[in-house]
Amino acid sequence: MKQKLLELLQSTEGFLSGQELSDYLNVSRTAVWKVMKSLEEDGYEIEAVRNKGYSLKKEPDILTKESCASRINTKWLGKNLMVYDVTDSTNTRLKLAGEQGAPNGSVAVANAQEAGKGRLGRHWETPKGSALAFSLLLRPQIQPENASMLTLVAALAVSRAIDGYAGIKTQIKWPNDIVYQGKKLCGILTEMSADMDQIHYVIVGIGINVQMTDFPKEIQNTATSLKLVTGKTLLRNELLAKVLEEFEVLYEQFVSAESLKNLKAEYESRLANKDNRVNVLAPSGAWQGICLGIKEDGALLVQREDGKVEEVIAGEVSV
Ligand code: BTN
Repeated sequence: MKQKLLELLQSTEGFLSGQELSDYLNVSRTAVWKVMKSLEEDGYEIEAVRNKGYSLKKEPDILTKESCASRINTKWLGKNLMVYDVTDSTNTRLKLAGEQGAPNGSVAVANAQEAGKGRLGRHWETPKGSALAFSLLLRPQIQPENASMLTLVAALAVSRAIDGYAGIKTQIKWPNDIVYQGKKLCGILTEMSADMDQIHYVIVGIGINVQMTDFPKEIQNTATSLKLVTGKTLLRNELLAKVLEEFEVLYEQFVSAESLKNLKAEYESRLANKDNRVNVLAPSGAWQGICLGIKEDGALLVQREDGKVEEVIAGEVSV
């Protein structure tokens, strides 16, 4: 009922009378008043005027089950939603849920992570109240060797969502970092449980820097946040909803083709360093070349000095 009431307030410009709300929700006016008080305790600013009713004036940047669910407008992604104030890692939480049979499209969100995981075994900072950390549980019926492409699908979804919501132009640093003017705004960690020919589940974990104004020394020069870039306090629940909406559409296109063929052109239009010289830090050693784009299977195409085009499937690429 709190979520329903919040949705009504969010979708109404003017006032909603106590009577209208109690009729609509089929509860007493006292019950409506109590939920309004509870929303105010959460930080919502609600104007209450005699003979007019209630109007939502300001939403706080909080991640609660109601604040997230009231914004999510998808067909299946995030219908099973877990929201934690503090947890170890949303990837870890969803892995456990996946083992216990949680459905395709389950989403776990955290306001803070105490053991956030980054790529290559690194730690991922998720300070309370300023990061958007969430994970998606997917059970795609595709070959296990194609699952790594989901990381590129997620990067495209995040890039689209941030651009639409924050009004900026982000780029994707292959395979899956979202950057703004070369500084990292978002990282993605994909983990999978599968046997030789069948995926049990894939977890796509996404960490977006939203409200941070400073970073630990080690990443000070390479990381940024939406607050630093836009100067605005954007709402993490709204951004979450936008990413889920974009991802749902792109995921369906990816799974039906089992390749990136429908997404390649847009991914390349957002690809940082396209047509520029890049350093490829391959497991076998570093080398330089010109970044040409991606293949439909997600590999990065880089042309060596001698003209030979290599397909990079693992490792890091930098300028
Ligand atoms: C990277 O190293 O760039 C990937 C970072 C991924 C961080 C996200 S935050 C939500 C999810 N839970 C985790 O523990 N990690 C991912």
